Amino acid sequence: MRVEFALAAVLAPFTVTAQLNDLAVRAGLKYFGTALREGAVNSDAAYRRILTDKSEFGQLVPENGQKWESIQGSRGSFNYQQGDITANTARSSGQGLRCHTLVWHSQLPNWVASGSWNRDTLTQVIDTHMANVMTHYKGQCYAWDVVNEAINDDGTWRNSVFLRVFGTDYLPLSFNLAKKHDPDTKLYYNDYNLEYNGAKCDRAVEIVNIVQKAGAPIDGVGFQGHLIVGSTPTRAQLNTMLRRFTSLGVEVAYTELDIRHASLPANAQANQRQAQDFANVVGSCLDVQGCIGVTVWSFTDKYSWIPETFPGEGDALIYDRNFNKKAAWTAISSVLAAAATGAPQPPSSTSVPAGPTTTLVTSTRAPTSAAPQPTTTSIPAPGPEQVRWGQCGGQGWNGPTRCQSPYTCTYSNPWYSQCL
Ligand code: G3I
Repeated sequence: MRVEFALAAVLAPFTVTAQLNDLAVRAGLKYFGTALREGAVNSDAAYRRILTDKSEFGQLVPENGQKWESIQGSRGSFNYQQGDITANTARSSGQGLRCHTLVWHSQLPNWVASGSWNRDTLTQVIDTHMANVMTHYKGQCYAWDVVNEAINDDGTWRNSVFLRVFGTDYLPLSFNLAKKHDPDTKLYYNDYNLEYNGAKCDRAVEIVNIVQKAGAPIDGVGFQGHLIVGSTPTRAQLNTMLRRFTSLGVEVAYTELDIRHASLPANAQANQRQAQDFANVVGSCLDVQGCIGVTVWSFTDKYSWIPETFPGEGDALIYDRNFNKKAAWTAISSVLAAAATGAPQPPSSTSVPAGPTTTLVTSTRAPTSAAPQPTTTSIPAPGPEQVRWGQCGGQGWNGPTRCQSPYTCTYSNPWYSQCL
């Protein structure tokens, strides 16, 4: 495509691109990642090309392949074919791996979910599953989601075979067993709808407390981030919610981010709002020192769990079905670029026409040592110059339109031009 070709030519002299993972790392995060859909990666070349671009996605997580039903559908019979698709893809592309998930009520085979267990026998079942799975992937997983979705949306404990047999003791038990089988991976509790900072979030705080008070290890809490356009909390609200957990001594990450339209097709205004919502979520991670990364739950509207679960809703991701970058992509790129470079804020009194807007906010986290710094403090007339990777144009943009030397304001799409 013409624009991509032009961008590639401009970027060629530099060792990094302005893609999301590169920008995220320069902004101080560990990665910007995506889920991998096992059924698509070997049949869809366009999907695979973007998925395996390490500058875009530094970490992969299997959408389904590591779940209990995928690996141990029958007792004692372990099948790693689906899980290995992601592990092998990540390894061959030089990408990291998040591992998902071990103890979860869903996609749990019947022989576990409906078995008659006591504490000893179910402990043995969990121990055996973890021993096999965690040993198989040992050394590859940055983190494991040890316990997934233990809380109902109203904050009560979710009914599951694990809760029925152990009460909440299965929480520390699971983390202790996971540590035994892979002492070097990060151990996460992972859930959705914590972002609203309500009763469910309170209960997740309690989970961290329960595990810690039992003397068991817990390293992180994953905020899945299955959100809705227009109902996504603000950056400040998200920031506050994340800090409730980092203050307990655990790291945090957005692990399954998608922001769906409640009705389709989405008009330009809805896409603009979606872009702003994505920027707020990613921005909140940049604001909080213990927030280490963001993973989208697939990157293209072509492959998403949402239409099956919420008919009529969707288009929740950052590329459209034809693999064009959406306004949401440019908004994320811009917020990351601003954090990576210390870009100036656009004037705050902006009224914004159609097209995505991005708020350039300087991160409180220090950029990595490799990150380029703004090189000048003098601002010549007729206005400020944008730093490398910062936004310099696009519909609705009224921030700086000139770039610091030697960078050029380069057209990306109608809503976004960038100093490259
Ligand atoms: O494996 C069968 C296959 O044999 C069959 O031919 C096919 C027919 O539809 O279905 C396949 O199972 C599907 C499975 O994904 C594997 O592809 C199920 O129908 C489908 O419902 C299932 O959905 C997954 C869902 O978890 C199940 O809970 C989604 O792909 C996956 O994106 C979603 O991911 C979860 C996270 O793990 C946890 N957090 C929430 C998130 C979204 O629900």
